[in-house]
Amino acid sequence: MTTSEKRNAQEDAMKMFSFAVFSKLEGAVTAGMIHLGDRLGLYSFLAENSNITSQELADGCGLHERWVREWAYNQAAAHLITSQTSEGGVVRFGLTDEAVAVLASPDHPAYGMGMFHRLPQTMQALQEMPECFRTGLGLDYDSHGPEGAVGIERSFEPWNQAFLLPIVIPAIHGLTKLLSEGASVIDIGCGAGGAAMLLAQAFPKSNFTGYDISQFALERAKDRQSEKQITNVKFIDPRVDPIVQDGSVDFVMTFDCIHDMTHPQEMMQTIRGALKDDGVWLLVDIKALDGLEQNMMHNPMASLMYGISILSCMSSAMSSPDGAGLGTLGFSSSRAKSMAVAAGFSHFEQLAIEHSVNAFYEIRP
Ligand SMILES: C[S@@+](CC[C@H](N)C(=O)[O-])C[C@H]1O[C@@H](n2cnc3c(N)ncnc32)[C@H](O)[C@@H]1O
Repeated sequence: MTTSEKRNAQEDAMKMFSFAVFSKLEGAVTAGMIHLGDRLGLYSFLAENSNITSQELADGCGLHERWVREWAYNQAAAHLITSQTSEGGVVRFGLTDEAVAVLASPDHPAYGMGMFHRLPQTMQALQEMPECFRTGLGLDYDSHGPEGAVGIERSFEPWNQAFLLPIVIPAIHGLTKLLSEGASVIDIGCGAGGAAMLLAQAFPKSNFTGYDISQFALERAKDRQSEKQITNVKFIDPRVDPIVQDGSVDFVMTFDCIHDMTHPQEMMQTIRGALKDDGVWLLVDIKALDGLEQNMMHNPMASLMYGISILSCMSSAMSSPDGAGLGTLGFSSSRAKSMAVAAGFSHFEQLAIEHSVNAFYEIRP
């Protein structure tokens, strides 16, 4: 290679690296614009009224046209909404069917606005991070405020509403019968209580208890429960009223929360202490692999997940001085299995349930 070829190659490499860095900033800023699109009702209006001008979109949402136009240009440039310019120069915006599902259909399993709902709270954590990095001490879920709990609820409920009853519960041997006849069920790390309430309504003879340490999530769960007038579920902070340890529970559920806990091993032992000898634990947690190399190779969202871990999951798991700090990608199938065995479980089986992010395990004593 000649000297000038070498210099050109170095310049190209520099441009490529700068592009890689600034594409992350593009993603971060556009993510903020997605938050606004959701919060201001812009996507909902576009879903109902396709092929409209920025003036029509602004009028429909009660907003100022100049701001809406710039937002729509960002969204079109990011290929999230469609744009068509007429010969006269009028630009019209719309949504594809896929965009309607992901951006504007709360009941669609692919709906994705939950993480964007809590983006400001998630990013706000950056203010605290330098101190966390110095001391090692993280922040629990309540540090994201009430909107953090709503964001979590909006992240997980669309999939649960669509698949929990028809797919997940029947995948566990004997569970539908057990719940229909009347069982004692606990949901640990229940968040805003969506899963517990869904099952409580479907199985009125069973009794459900949701446990969470987030006061904002518990408040939301209790409000929704009284709105829906569901009487066979209650929501409790386990630090006030500890999880029962008398082997009386038929079914334990944990959705996306063990990796967030400061003491996951102790929690697994608590689950074993709560369960009957013939009880069952449904563990749902992130589909993580063992170690950085594996996650980088097989998970296209690995960098997003390691980042969210710092801002949310690992931070929660480090929120006491002796926190285990598993984090978003720290609870692989092999680690879950060895921890379950150490907690006194002998049956560990991954269920054949397709999910973009989560793995499902049936665990028995
Ligand atoms: C990612 S959220 C999942 C919430 C809910 N399971 C869902 O799927 O919507 C994790 C939850 O675990 C809760 N959590 C963390 N540590 C906990 C603990 N030791 N006991 C009970 N809940 C805990 C957090 O407060 C948070 O609400």
